[in-house]
Amino acid sequence: MPRVLVLSGRELEEILRPEVLVSEIEKAFVLYSSRRTVTPPRTVMWVEGNWWGVMQSYVPGYGVGIKVVNVIPTNVERGLPTIQAIVSLLDPLTGAPLAVMEGSVLTALRTGAASAISVKHMAPEPGGSIAIIGTGYQARYQLRFVSHFYKTEELRIYDIREEAAEFFRRYAEHLGFRVVKCRSSREAIEGASIVIEASTTTTPVIEGAYLSSPAHVISIGAHTKDARALDDGVIRRAEVVVVDSREAVMLETGDIRIPVESGLLSTDRVYELGEVASGEKPGRLTKEGVTVFKSVGLAIQDAAAAAVAYRLAVEKGVGRFVEL
Ligand SMILES: NC(=O)c1ccc[n+]([C@@H]2O[C@H](COP(=O)([O-])OP(=O)(O)OC[C@H]3O[C@@H](n4cnc5c(N)ncnc54)[C@H](O)[C@@H]3O)[C@@H](O)[C@H]2O)c1
Repeated sequence: MPRVLVLSGRELEEILRPEVLVSEIEKAFVLYSSRRTVTPPRTVMWVEGNWWGVMQSYVPGYGVGIKVVNVIPTNVERGLPTIQAIVSLLDPLTGAPLAVMEGSVLTALRTGAASAISVKHMAPEPGGSIAIIGTGYQARYQLRFVSHFYKTEELRIYDIREEAAEFFRRYAEHLGFRVVKCRSSREAIEGASIVIEASTTTTPVIEGAYLSSPAHVISIGAHTKDARALDDGVIRRAEVVVVDSREAVMLETGDIRIPVESGLLSTDRVYELGEVASGEKPGRLTKEGVTVFKSVGLAIQDAAAAAVAYRLAVEKGVGRFVEL
């Protein structure tokens, strides 16, 4: 009978610290962009009007990870998370199941890690402020991971829901940030060096006209083919556009698909995070430029994060083994 390690979200938070996770996820992105992983595009299905994804990947040196994830925006009204997920990790040689873990926290951690990698390679000089548009669940992890690599005191925030902005203000102040709660996205992004979009919007919330120079824009929302979080102005101003996966962004977000199809953005100008992390492509060209990192989320991140969590949990005696 296989023995499977079960890990809770709280245990994942405890073991997957930015200083450990970011470098591991970075290696997984490099493997992905050099075509050394097996990562079919995720299967998307619509259930009761909501997006569900099944994401699978084999990342050599890590393992086989499979995640079932959904995005249910109306869960906010039920007091439930917008994103819920479960992740299984399997042994690539024997096929044996190794672990099952909570997927919302794992998703938020690995998404924070991807944004942090972009900051390592693309951010302007430190010392500027960070703006966050959309201050829900992901935003907390984005802040923790990004600020680990981009030190700042001032945080500018905006959310269409006052209660979300207020909750986040208290959270960020508790972490030691000076928080400016803004009345519009424009007010938040004007003057910011790092702009993070972590919202459930489907229409642009970041307008290129209001970005400072320099600035690094990170956008993790707008994950369907017609949805946009960034307007054309952002793409026009960007000296470098980096994505997690060229294949995935063309299928899964209007932020890249629409400007590519309209001729505004040439695919030669769209680099992958793994190409930038390996040094094959530049993350930033000039000190004053605007750079963009767009992610839709990749199964390699889940598989690598799950494998790292499993390894660390076994080492530290965290979690419970269950016989199947
Ligand atoms: N790229 C990735 O790998 C990845 C991974 C996980 C989640 N996501 C995406 O991140 C986004 C946020 O997820 P979450 O779990 O934090 O959801 P959430 O519901 O907890 O938070 C989203 C917040 O965005 C706010 N919002 C919606 N429209 C807005 C607008 N026009 N202006 C300002 N704020 C607005 C909402 O009020 C809410 O507070 C979703 O789109 C999700 O699909 C991406």
